[in-house]
Amino acid sequence: MHSCAGSYDERYAGPIGDFWRSGFTALPPAARVLDIASGNGPLPRLLLSLAERPDLSCDAVDLAELAPPWLESLAASQRDRVRFHSTCPAEHLPFADASFDLVVSQWGLEYSDLSRAVPELLRVLKPGGAVRLLLHHQQALPVVLAADEIAHLEWLLQPGGFMQACADMLAPMALAASAEGRARLQRDAQANAWRERFNVLQNQLQSRVDLGQCPDVLVEVRQSASQLLALAAQSGEATARQRWQILLTGLEDASFRLHELRSHSLDEAAARALASSLAASGPYTLEPLRDRDAIMGWALSLTRLP
Ligand SMILES: C[S@@+](CC[C@H](N)C(=O)[O-])C[C@H]1O[C@@H](n2cnc3c(N)ncnc32)[C@H](O)[C@@H]1O
Repeated sequence: MHSCAGSYDERYAGPIGDFWRSGFTALPPAARVLDIASGNGPLPRLLLSLAERPDLSCDAVDLAELAPPWLESLAASQRDRVRFHSTCPAEHLPFADASFDLVVSQWGLEYSDLSRAVPELLRVLKPGGAVRLLLHHQQALPVVLAADEIAHLEWLLQPGGFMQACADMLAPMALAASAEGRARLQRDAQANAWRERFNVLQNQLQSRVDLGQCPDVLVEVRQSASQLLALAAQSGEATARQRWQILLTGLEDASFRLHELRSHSLDEAAARALASSLAASGPYTLEPLRDRDAIMGWALSLTRLP
């Protein structure tokens, strides 16, 4: 999704950054922020980058193990302002009631069981506090691109497909490293059939790159495949097969994540239902957040009555 949606700006220039910055800068002095489903922590990172608000601090939770790579490079005084809580579900937050002035989540809360996560969110939010959420929108660019990328992944991973053809080529490539092996290969009808099949699939891959949307994954896999074949020739079939397995697992994981992304995206009715479940505590605004012409998500803002 990341490569596809194309360089989400790390500095968060543009409307997404504006949405978050305006929420952070409106906070009262020494406010505490909670980021739900923080991932690699882009929102805490943005918060810490606000030179005009060195008084803000942030807790960040996620179901996964968190180890944001950017954290180590921070000065200790900045690092102390953010606490990451790994393996911490949104449905069960380890904080006292009314702890936070602002609760945020970017493409995160909607992955949780909302019937339990929303009451938890409201429990830890102070009276008069605010909620800001950026949620997957069914017509958003990352969601639409995910469908294209899923189709490419299915094509790569299908039985008899490109990944299988790549695996079939590892033994012949290892053999081709020696003169004796090359002589054996010439008489090996099966190896010749594998090579022809691989060439056909390489051509099909190129056609998909030329015609399809979001071809990044195809280009990356083509490059990885050529490295794997070179590795088989250099270091043998077993070493290359281990690397192939790592590539396969990575592609299967990517496919799983993209399916998750699509299945947790919200149409307007679902976004309004989520807003209403929060809104008992105060008025809200819900609108598509756009960057240039593309919808990037649902922006939901709510202030809790004091
Ligand atoms: C698409 S990522 C978004 C991460 C981050 N907010 C960002 O903007 O890059 C979704 C995150 O939700 C987390 N997640 C999924 N279900 C969760 C749950 N029930 N409680 C907490 N985190 C959850 C995942 O581990 C993942 O890090």
